[in-house]
Amino acid sequence: MPQTTSAITYDYSELLAAEDAPALQRDTGILPSDLYWLVPRLEAARKEVLDDTAAWNSGAPVAKEKQPLDAGFFELPERLLRTDRVVVDRVVAVADRLAGEVDRVVVLGIGGSYMGARALMEACCHPYHNELPRQRRNGRPRMYFEGNNVDNDAVCGLLDLLEGADDWALVVISKSGGTLETAAAFRIFFQALKHVCANHPEKLRRRVVPITGRTGKLRALARRLGLSDQDMFDIPEGVGGRFSVFTPVGLLPAAILGLDVLALLKGAAAMNDRFRNAPALDCPPLAYAGMSHLMELRRGATIRVLSTWGKRLEAVGLWYDQLLAESLGKQCAGATPLTVVNTRDLHSRGQQHQEGRRDKLITNVYVEQCQREALRIGHWETDEDDLNQYAEKTLPDVLAAAFTGTNEAYAADGRRTATIRLPRLDEFSLGQLLQMLMIATVVEGRLIGINPYGQPGVEAYKNRMVAILRR
Ligand code: PA5
Repeated sequence: MPQTTSAITYDYSELLAAEDAPALQRDTGILPSDLYWLVPRLEAARKEVLDDTAAWNSGAPVAKEKQPLDAGFFELPERLLRTDRVVVDRVVAVADRLAGEVDRVVVLGIGGSYMGARALMEACCHPYHNELPRQRRNGRPRMYFEGNNVDNDAVCGLLDLLEGADDWALVVISKSGGTLETAAAFRIFFQALKHVCANHPEKLRRRVVPITGRTGKLRALARRLGLSDQDMFDIPEGVGGRFSVFTPVGLLPAAILGLDVLALLKGAAAMNDRFRNAPALDCPPLAYAGMSHLMELRRGATIRVLSTWGKRLEAVGLWYDQLLAESLGKQCAGATPLTVVNTRDLHSRGQQHQEGRRDKLITNVYVEQCQREALRIGHWETDEDDLNQYAEKTLPDVLAAAFTGTNEAYAADGRRTATIRLPRLDEFSLGQLLQMLMIATVVEGRLIGINPYGQPGVEAYKNRMVAILRR
């Protein structure tokens, strides 16, 4: 069977405790009676998510208590693979054109308008993609992310890199089209690009790709700059920023980097099939949402640690931090997400996770198979560091030992862990994982009575910031 058909799994067996288990186990784990309570609630949440999707598809007015309802993300993968395949084809065509014309692409966007793309780049590209010569990047451009802050010196640093060169392009992403950080960065980077494309308006036009909602300031600005709707991509109605990784928001940067966007979408569609059909406790998004909810509700695990093993999933963790925090952190509810990267963070957070407050659920994300040849520690003539005893062990062996050892140590003290396993770090696995976490977030919102869509709280800082700027 080809690797790309491999399913990711969610294993929560280490969270469970028998009713007659010793006190430490019973007091920290999920009991059979908890599962009995949970299953009908999960089934109701699944039905609600599917009903919301159907209601949204029907175009019927959304009931007041459901607003906003950005249920459009769920069926995007199937839609793009089938009826809207033309969108994917256009994404790939524009990506290939840019890859042929430029060596660097600056992606401007903040929050949901860049974190998915960055997650895909870090997970699926060579870890030093931007440092490699073009040939070793398979002829694909380097990629930089900006417009996600207002850090003057960071922006200047990127402009230094681009100075005087005309081998770069801009992808500017904002659903609302009015986010100040991204809009300010667009003015600055557009000016720089205009300067180097001085007498070539057509070249300038080909070097700017806006991705935005069907209306808004960015679309109006882009039109004024001479771009037609054909030069831009739409972010579909009913898909919120942090749920937009499978729109051109995530797909165009991924395709520019040469990633297999069809495999991504197929992975996400495969997760949808499991969500629709699998028994609740065998269904990764439902089981993950349910176990996380129970651990918070019954065991006080208000801190949700996504414990990634290996370096390349850190940006996936940050993407999930945003997804969970912005979706459920409302009305004084919602777990606090925290991404860790092991074994690195065992040397910074490990102490607290082993012996600190009992307020954490640790969910590992573990990749079964590395892509490159496994490196051995090796035998040395002299053995001052005492490593000859491990000479035949590889780095994956050491990672696996750290993983098992850490989970055993946590379990011995009733520190509960669950594990998401990815067969490989590739587009098909990432498609499954991102869709699983998006669905789980919506399911959890329905379980706790919090609308997972919208982020009304973010308006508070924005309003004050612009009021201060106007003074
Ligand atoms: O998830 C969200 O909706 C937010 O994080 C947005 O993506 C973020 O605020 C950027 O918004 P916009 O794309 O409108 O610039």
